[in-house]
Amino acid sequence: MPQLNSSLAAWGAVAAHANELSKAHLRDLSVADSQRWQNLHVEHDTWLLDVSRQRITARTLSLLIELARSAGLAARIAAMFRGDPINTTEQRAALHTALRSDFAGSADIQAEVRASREKLSGFAGAVRSGNALGVTGKTFKHVVNIGIGGSDLGPLLVCDALRHEWSGGITPHFVSNVDRTQLDDLIRSVDPAETLVIVCSKTFTTQETRANANAARTWIVGALGEKAAARHFVAVSTNAAAMDAFGIAAEHRFTMWDWVGGRYSVWSAIGLIAEIVVGSERFQEFLAGASDIDRHFTQAPFEKNLPVLMGLLGVWNRSFLKLPTLAVLPYDQRLARLPAYLQQLEMESNGKSVNLAGEQVDFPTAPVVWGQPASNAQHSFFQMLHQGTPTAALDFIAPMRGSWGGTEAQDLALQNCLAQSQAFAFGYTREEVAADMRKAGAGAADIARLVAHRVHEGNRPSSLLLYPRTTARSLGGLLALYEHSVFVQGSVWGVNSFDQFGVELGKKLAGGISMKGDRAPSGCGAAGLAALIAYVIKHR
Ligand code: F6P
Repeated sequence: MPQLNSSLAAWGAVAAHANELSKAHLRDLSVADSQRWQNLHVEHDTWLLDVSRQRITARTLSLLIELARSAGLAARIAAMFRGDPINTTEQRAALHTALRSDFAGSADIQAEVRASREKLSGFAGAVRSGNALGVTGKTFKHVVNIGIGGSDLGPLLVCDALRHEWSGGITPHFVSNVDRTQLDDLIRSVDPAETLVIVCSKTFTTQETRANANAARTWIVGALGEKAAARHFVAVSTNAAAMDAFGIAAEHRFTMWDWVGGRYSVWSAIGLIAEIVVGSERFQEFLAGASDIDRHFTQAPFEKNLPVLMGLLGVWNRSFLKLPTLAVLPYDQRLARLPAYLQQLEMESNGKSVNLAGEQVDFPTAPVVWGQPASNAQHSFFQMLHQGTPTAALDFIAPMRGSWGGTEAQDLALQNCLAQSQAFAFGYTREEVAADMRKAGAGAADIARLVAHRVHEGNRPSSLLLYPRTTARSLGGLLALYEHSVFVQGSVWGVNSFDQFGVELGKKLAGGISMKGDRAPSGCGAAGLAALIAYVIKHR
């Protein structure tokens, strides 16, 4: 009889330890252990993970590692890389690692991946070199990715993060929102004769993508004639029949597999736009960076294993310290899209409330993930992070050099990153506030009036991930670190990180609604819904 992982003895031991630690402030923990930084950071290759500002001790990590062992993490990692159907609700493997690591999945799968890679780099090369031309004979200067969710966020992040690696004079564009605004803006700014459209949809049934793809087709065919569709459209999907119906030419179809989840698909043909924009050599480096982390994840002992530690701290902060949110704070504008990417990765994967056996869990799972480049965030929501009532867990992510290779401006970023993580951890006490105010010449009355407003309680836990520079290789590594951290958390919580039934109900209900008012709504709340539709029809 399967049981909740919270009934494991190791879970109980972590809970008891969390209780003991609940009164400890990071100031006390820091004073108590002069070797704290040495004991609570891990280096691997060019990565450094500093967890010394998490609300933990070395014992916390040992207990969490014991919990991971009791939850069968090692066996689950092996099962994932073997290609077992660990997505049990859908009876599928989760083999995104096979797209970048030759030791994942079967020989047959590896052969299919190689064949697909060859076709992709051949096509990307043809577009870049001008061998693939538009219907009027012009070279492609613009590539548009039409997709949503995992068929948008990954390629968008990679293109944005590697802007300094763009070559070949091709500009990427992204259309995801069903409201058509992105496509309308695009149509006004580019020449259709120089535009290649990639329709990315694993299922090819996604309403938003189909609507945008149809509108793009109308635009291209309207401007260049019916024959243009075959030259100007490419598709990435598992759905051959839908690609037939859309008129995608055979040589313009790129395979997906059901063992690649949407939010894990940037390594597949879904990454085609990025490969066209940065070139296949850079894209291979992106894959190699992820593969480095796959190897590390499968081989390093848990004590030194970065994604294992990141995942276990995620479980600690969410399920034991009960911190409701995780703020992702990159000190690199290149990673502006990372929080949105991680939102889907973490929240669609682990936003679950039943375990693999379908039993209701009795502990909190995935946190709300949010964030933005930290330099800007310091001047907006950091106030609340420092002094507000909810406490968030924080992930600081910082390259040691700017993406252009220099250190001067990045030193300012790093200086802020380190200062903020110290302030979050250790705060600013009443005594310190009063002493600083006295030094600045404030009188007793002002000090009494202001001291409470200036105090920073501190004890806000954070991790810091440092690496040399945002490149194709480090970006691949960074995404793989988070993917595996999500897997570790899902494994310890005992949930299926690879399905997403929660997104289905809204889609189904949307299909039953007509904004023309020609179909009466049915089901619970139908009267209210009918009134709302009538309001829209009357007032717009
Ligand atoms: O609605 C959620 C979702 O299924 C995501 O999991 C997925 O990334 C996205 O929609 C897009 O799906 P598709 O690639 O099939 O269009």
